[in-house]
Amino acid sequence: MYDFRIAAADKVTLYRDLASALEGLVSGEPDQIANMANAAALIWGSLPDVNWVGFYRNVGGELVLGPFQGRPACIRIPFGQGVCGTAAATLEVQRVEDVHAFPGHIACDTASASELVVPIVGADGELIAVLDIDSPKPARFDAEDEAGCVRLAEILAKVL
Ligand code: SME
Repeated sequence: MYDFRIAAADKVTLYRDLASALEGLVSGEPDQIANMANAAALIWGSLPDVNWVGFYRNVGGELVLGPFQGRPACIRIPFGQGVCGTAAATLEVQRVEDVHAFPGHIACDTASASELVVPIVGADGELIAVLDIDSPKPARFDAEDEAGCVRLAEILAKVL
């Protein structure tokens, strides 16, 4: 078992340490599921105030649930639907302060109040997966969280 203890005073340091731990975890491992599983566990154990951390994979143009931490979730999400489907269709990060105000938001866990979804895009420009992080706190994610998670997605894009 790996025992990462990431508890930084500021978000820049937190995400720097998280990126470095993630690089170590996935380095040399080609299995997509193993890497997503360890990434979900690492992020889940490092970020405060989150109630779901995981992946939806692009399987033939549909998002299918991948490794995650949190409560059981919706299995299939069409591109364009909800926060994850919007990130998949646009390839743009979705940082949502109030999920209840997001048109078409899919409520997998009624406790979720805000959400950050980051597309993971391969070198060919195709969507590999999305990283989805939910929080029970409204407006939990700021620009520093977004930048930090984009960096994590870049690290994962190289190995997924
Ligand atoms: N809320 C997401 C669905 C996935 S769950 O949050 C795990 C959405 O609207 O896409």
